[in-house]
Amino acid sequence: MFSLFGGREAVVGLDIGSSAIKLVQVQSKRDGFEVQHVSATPIPAEAIVDGALMNYSAVSQAVRSLAESGGVKAKKVTCSLSGNAVIAKVVTMPAMSPSEAEEQIHWEAGQHIPFSIDDVNLDYQILSKREGEMSVLLVAAKKDVLADYQNIVTEAGLQLAVVDVDALALFNCFYANHLLPNRLELEQALVGLVNVGASMTNIVIVRAGVPMFLRDVPTAGHGMTTEIQKGLGLSFDEAEAVKTGRSEVPEAQRARFEEVVRAALEGVVAEIQRTAEFYLGTAGEEGIQRYFVTGGATRTPHLLDVLRARMGGASVDPLNPFARAQVGAKYSKTTLDELSAVSAIGVGLALRQPQDAMTK
Ligand SMILES: Nc1ncnc2c1ncn2[C@@H]1O[C@H](COP(=O)(O)OP(=O)(O)OP(=O)(O)O)[C@@H](O)[C@H]1O
Ligand SMILES: [Mg+2]
Repeated sequence: MFSLFGGREAVVGLDIGSSAIKLVQVQSKRDGFEVQHVSATPIPAEAIVDGALMNYSAVSQAVRSLAESGGVKAKKVTCSLSGNAVIAKVVTMPAMSPSEAEEQIHWEAGQHIPFSIDDVNLDYQILSKREGEMSVLLVAAKKDVLADYQNIVTEAGLQLAVVDVDALALFNCFYANHLLPNRLELEQALVGLVNVGASMTNIVIVRAGVPMFLRDVPTAGHGMTTEIQKGLGLSFDEAEAVKTGRSEVPEAQRARFEEVVRAALEGVVAEIQRTAEFYLGTAGEEGIQRYFVTGGATRTPHLLDVLRARMGGASVDPLNPFARAQVGAKYSKTTLDELSAVSAIGVGLALRQPQDAMTK
């Protein structure tokens, strides 16, 4: 049986991203955690589309190569879903007994899930209880995608212990690295967490230290590459290479390149802004004061500055997945800096539940 929220032993975070697979092993410590392993390997551009595996063997091969390359000792794995493979929603309901809650939660799930209940695995997690109310995270994960993940993990010689959602792994990573050591300050603020990956931008809004709102928006780095491809008449791979600085933009195309990147970047920022406004409107809140951002696409030059300019004076900082990590001599600072933007989900998965971090 799958458990979406069980499995406290899991220490290997497997982040199956649509551009790259990441593997992270951590050990929780009294005052933080130790990063024992972190690695990433790219997968072909169309191998994962809308959260579904289109090229099973390429993904399976990539996971196996990371698992077999050494460094990962634990067997139990936590991985996560995002986009169309999963519906994750935070609902607020009156505090009630566990058996009443179970019944109410199943009813709520029926209201929020657009697929047949037979096609999904349902699970929930009570995130907080206060003042006679509780906030509950509902998750409905598509069974066919879960089965693919199960097979991939097994083929790599590992055991799938927990299936999470990207947005919650993002929260866990923020929790362990930023919230825990700065509770007094950060619990006063309304905080936005943003992970701009290749296909998806995961957004989490955190109030008083609790995730209140999760959304995945299908606008991210892959779309930026497509815009560069069209704007400059390049292949996808060439566009990706110039975007990430691996190859130079010819002098004659430089101005056009800047213009296209700027427009694509504004598109991503506009989606983040729209999501924030939607949340603020429905929750009746004033404004988000702090953003923590991560994901490969946040390495795009000027992205943070454009966010700062558009987010009504909110502070915008990189989410550092290694802020409270002890790292042995195995990884240099340069390597960690390189991996920092793409490791937040993997670290959040490897750390698992916020309760664990709270008690250790
Ligand atoms: N230096 C860079 N400049 C701009 N973009 C970059 C850079 N490095 C990586 N990216 C982009 O980051 C994205 C990959 O980030 P990430 O690994 O977080 O995504 P993913 O987890 O594979 O995707 P998703 O979670 O959306 O399925 C790609 O679109 C890639 O082009
Ligand atoms: Mg990702």
